[in-house]
Amino acid sequence: MRRDVVLSEFGLISWQLRGTKSPVPDAPDLPEPRQATGFADLKKQLSRETPHETSHEKTREKTQAKEEVFSPGAFSDTRGQRIAQLSWNDFAADVAACTACDLCKTRTKAVPGVGDVHARWLFVGEGPGAEEDKKGEPFVGQAGRLLDQMLAALGMKRGSDVYIANVLKCRPPNNRAPTPQEADACRPYLERQIALIAPKIIVALGKSAAMLLLNTDASIASLRGRGHRYQETPLVVTYHPAYLLRSPADKAKSWEDLVFAKRTLGNVSAAQQ
Ligand code: URA
Repeated sequence: MRRDVVLSEFGLISWQLRGTKSPVPDAPDLPEPRQATGFADLKKQLSRETPHETSHEKTREKTQAKEEVFSPGAFSDTRGQRIAQLSWNDFAADVAACTACDLCKTRTKAVPGVGDVHARWLFVGEGPGAEEDKKGEPFVGQAGRLLDQMLAALGMKRGSDVYIANVLKCRPPNNRAPTPQEADACRPYLERQIALIAPKIIVALGKSAAMLLLNTDASIASLRGRGHRYQETPLVVTYHPAYLLRSPADKAKSWEDLVFAKRTLGNVSAAQQ
């Protein structure tokens, strides 16, 4: 897909043309990553290197510079322990046979996840919708098409250095948000996926993913624009593509978040060399 087409579909080209200079950073031409000692240092470097950053984000950074880390404890129950040992060979079949919550009664297909099992990028959404439930693959509906455009704008595509998963592996009726019980029942699967993939960056798409991975009830607006961690892995929060379809004005913020994630990944890789 051509880059200008991608950016235009992502809602960025028109905004760029109206302004005197582009507020939208060009991800493939990002500055070379620098050595960094930790995620908080990375964030400081990035704030110095990001000319498009808004004053609102700078203020937020000053008041919320503290890095947030959430490390879930080991599973104490036998189901959790079994899932924590699953190999990729057994993973999808185990999800398909799961009856840990009532969503198994209404699902057509379980939706374990899709992509490169050695990916550096892990995107985590909420749960399958109607089309995903039919196909058994995450993000294949309208929100998925926007996610694909977001990936393309970053020069990436699903399946190549990208893995896509959800908090829930089975569709909640009427696409409602996961209940805490459903999210808890499904948590061992996402945690196993993260352990198997060992991504270098996690992008939490929307509130359900942020809640589960960061153990917080804070709004996306307050979580985005700064670095988090899931255990040792840098994590960036952004809006869910389905929300962006309803609120296209926030697409530019989401693009900033993705560029921030890409810079973070570059800095993390450089720090590990
Ligand atoms: N929304 C999600 O969160 N996940 C999907 O797989 C599809 C839509």
